[in-house]
Amino acid sequence: MQVAALIVAAGKGERAGGDVPKQFRLLGGIPVIARAVDAFAGIPVHIVIGEGQEAELAAALGSRAVASVTTGGAERRDSVRAGLAAAAASGVSHVLIHDAARPLLPRAVIDRLLTALHTADGAVPVLPVVDTLARGTTTLGDTIDRATLHRIQTPQAFRLDAIIAAHDVWTGDAPTDDAQVARAQGIEITLVPGDAALDKLTHPADFARAETTLGRWQP
Ligand code: CTP
Ligand code: MG
Repeated sequence: MQVAALIVAAGKGERAGGDVPKQFRLLGGIPVIARAVDAFAGIPVHIVIGEGQEAELAAALGSRAVASVTTGGAERRDSVRAGLAAAAASGVSHVLIHDAARPLLPRAVIDRLLTALHTADGAVPVLPVVDTLARGTTTLGDTIDRATLHRIQTPQAFRLDAIIAAHDVWTGDAPTDDAQVARAQGIEITLVPGDAALDKLTHPADFARAETTLGRWQP
């Protein structure tokens, strides 16, 4: 099994705000994107960035070497597909697709995903849902049994040819992750335990949360 990581970092980070897209902001003095790259030590990393962001990426990465840098597209899925093509050109058999906006990635999660790939074509890290879930718009509707529900994180691990083929035939709305694209083609996805540190930087307050996590960070 030859594995590459694909980090998608071509988003605008509109919800997080700030002067630069969130993947180029500092977290504990180190750029968010650089932390994501560092997490994949020993695994070649392909990065997808927005148009014209080469200089910003180079400044953020410093001396870190990456396998390729590709320009993404308007939707996350467009960016993923651009990166998948770059990973395929490198000849690997499997890929770990990761959001740059999840910079705190424990090695244990990567190891769990790689182990799962020995017996499955796909694997994703998940966390349990702890709040009560219910339908409703202005008044409360039915409660949804949370016992079988999961919060899905990244990295998401796949056999490379399988996830490329799944994206090739996807006709649904813009998907928020790749596992749903894979599953639509019948690829069985193994669930492995995720990690709270992996929660995505989405809103401004998430940076403060991540700084706190960093205080006790042991990758
Ligand atoms: N992403 C991407 N290309 C896009 C959109 C998103 O590579 N066209 C990446 C983001 O850079 C991020 C990940 O996908 O690492 C998850 O997306 P999200 O958290 O939604 O980031 P943004 O799209 O940047 O944020 P927002 O939706 O608030 O603008
Ligand atoms: Mg987005």
